[in-house]
Amino acid sequence: MLWQTSRMHVLTMTTADTKSANYAAMREQAAALFSGERDGLANAANLAALLFELLPDLNWAGFYFLRDGELVLGPFQGKVACVRIALGRGVCGSAAATRKTLVVPDVHDFPGHIACDAASQSEIVVPLLREGRLFGVLDLDSPRRARFDADDAAGLEALADLLLAKSDFDGLVR
Ligand code: SME
Repeated sequence: MLWQTSRMHVLTMTTADTKSANYAAMREQAAALFSGERDGLANAANLAALLFELLPDLNWAGFYFLRDGELVLGPFQGKVACVRIALGRGVCGSAAATRKTLVVPDVHDFPGHIACDAASQSEIVVPLLREGRLFGVLDLDSPRRARFDADDAAGLEALADLLLAKSDFDGLVR
């Protein structure tokens, strides 16, 4: 169908040897998705879909945005999730409060972890920061223990930076 060929983005599974090379390829695909579009909600939704499709062993990938002093559920892929998380609560609230990426190899060992899906075994949460201002968090869960490492942290932080550079969040974050 003609309308599909002009608008469809086909994501390619990369097969590079290293995780960092895979993340570099994902950044190129994300940049293509964001080109010509600055709507933060739309770009975050597409980034959640890209991550969920291209990264192996995930059961949740998505966003919480800072709204009136708490984290509120944004676009995601996976099972339904809790809607509001206070700063300092759970893995998401802790990463947001400290403004530092949190890699949790075993969620059962993290005091206060909020279990949205019983299948989750490990988690990574990247704060969304632009010039020191907190916009929210990017959260990924895995059914595999110790799924995330420093390469994932660096790769996801770079993708979060790209999202923030290429999108406007007026009205979405407050
Ligand atoms: N586990 C998170 C809550 C969000 S869900 O994983 C989607 C936490 O402890 O903050």
